[in-house]
Amino acid sequence: MKLLVIGGGGREHALAWKLKQSPRIHKVFVAPGNAGTALEDGLENLPITTIPDLAEFAKNESIIFTVVGPEAPLAAGIVDTFRSVGLKIFGPTKQATQLEASKDYSKAFMQRHGIPTAAYASFADPAEAHKYLNKKGAPIVIKADGLAAGKGVKVAMTLSSAHAAVDSMLIDNSMGVAGARILIEEFLEGEEVSFIVMADGHHVLPLATSQDHKRLRDGDQGPNTGGMGAYSPASIITSELHTRIISEVIQPVMRGMAQEGQHYTGFLYAGLMIAQDGNINVLEYNCRMGDPEAQPIMLRLKSDLSILVEHAINGTLEKVEAEWDRRTALGVVMAAHGYPEMPRRGDIIYGLSELLSMKTLGEDFHIFQAGTMMGGKDDKEIVTIGGRVLCVTTLGDNVKIAQHRAYEIADKIRFDGCQMRCDIGYLATSF
Ligand code: AMP
Ligand code: GLY
Repeated sequence: MKLLVIGGGGREHALAWKLKQSPRIHKVFVAPGNAGTALEDGLENLPITTIPDLAEFAKNESIIFTVVGPEAPLAAGIVDTFRSVGLKIFGPTKQATQLEASKDYSKAFMQRHGIPTAAYASFADPAEAHKYLNKKGAPIVIKADGLAAGKGVKVAMTLSSAHAAVDSMLIDNSMGVAGARILIEEFLEGEEVSFIVMADGHHVLPLATSQDHKRLRDGDQGPNTGGMGAYSPASIITSELHTRIISEVIQPVMRGMAQEGQHYTGFLYAGLMIAQDGNINVLEYNCRMGDPEAQPIMLRLKSDLSILVEHAINGTLEKVEAEWDRRTALGVVMAAHGYPEMPRRGDIIYGLSELLSMKTLGEDFHIFQAGTMMGGKDDKEIVTIGGRVLCVTTLGDNVKIAQHRAYEIADKIRFDGCQMRCDIGYLATSF
């Protein structure tokens, strides 16, 4: 059986690596993939990027099913196209992807369906936005409406930085069309968690919980990024909170989408803020697996992912359960110089090839690659080509052990300008 994974980041490396572990699967194509997926046994990179060409490839190669990693092809309608020619694919439709692709749509959806989220207003006119800011005061949050790869949110601690963010998005077009409309949202305090499920249109299968680290620097300082590291499980999610999240945050999406004629299929990711008093608020929905959350989650998954996805595509998710490694998994992202604003490309990565060839080093880790390609001398070296470069992901009996191991391995890898947080998992180790 052959499968296709769409995307080329660390999340897709993790998904493809896990799918390939199934004894039923002999090849997983990754389009376009990266140096990590190029080097992995049983994975093959595919230099195809347009949706019609991907569909033609899937037909010609008798691909059993396709799994979509990133939001861009989902928002462009890859699921609709594949289904229209009878191909099996796991992901939401173009219309359902609006839940992530437009924050304005998403917030209105949450309000229609009684889902707890921060109060907000949306603006295309800067003067109106400034007036609203002056009324509300700081701290306050400014968000670009459209897709901005995790970089379209400004958490403004002062009114002047809030006004500046409004001008930057609405007047200077710093986010392009994604920022032509903005949301101004009430500032929420608490602890963030990522709650991700697989959905088949009717049923959901919750995956292990996780916690991301969005800010660039230690202690949650610096600009927002796509995520600098993650671990699973998130200890803050008690079984009582788990039940409430399913009923207050996940089921309303399934019901609401069905009522609106869009049975939701695919990964559904709720970014949540859990307040100290246990109040749950949805910060955002994503219509895909998280990155880097996928890396620790896949390292902990013991079940055959290809079987779970097959059930999801066939609408029978209620028949399966996912089995998880009891240990903690923790992933540390190594990012390029200049990330997130202007990541530099072309730095040679040292130490990685040696680690990849040392099979005896242990089964308690995997180095998932993201912005990498084969290059340098004779195309034998691994070089950086994007913002987030690697995610060193480890398993340990507790967060501290997994963390120690991840940094021990990351310290063996070097490239010029590497940015790495040194405190991934700190919320779970600091008590
Ligand atoms: P989003 O893309 O909406 O998830 O926002 C990115 C990040 O900005 C989140 O992960 C939070 O760290 C932060 N953030 C977003 N909305 C709020 C809010 N209302 N209050 C506080 N922080 C927020
Ligand atoms: N790690 C956050 C995201 O995938 O959106």
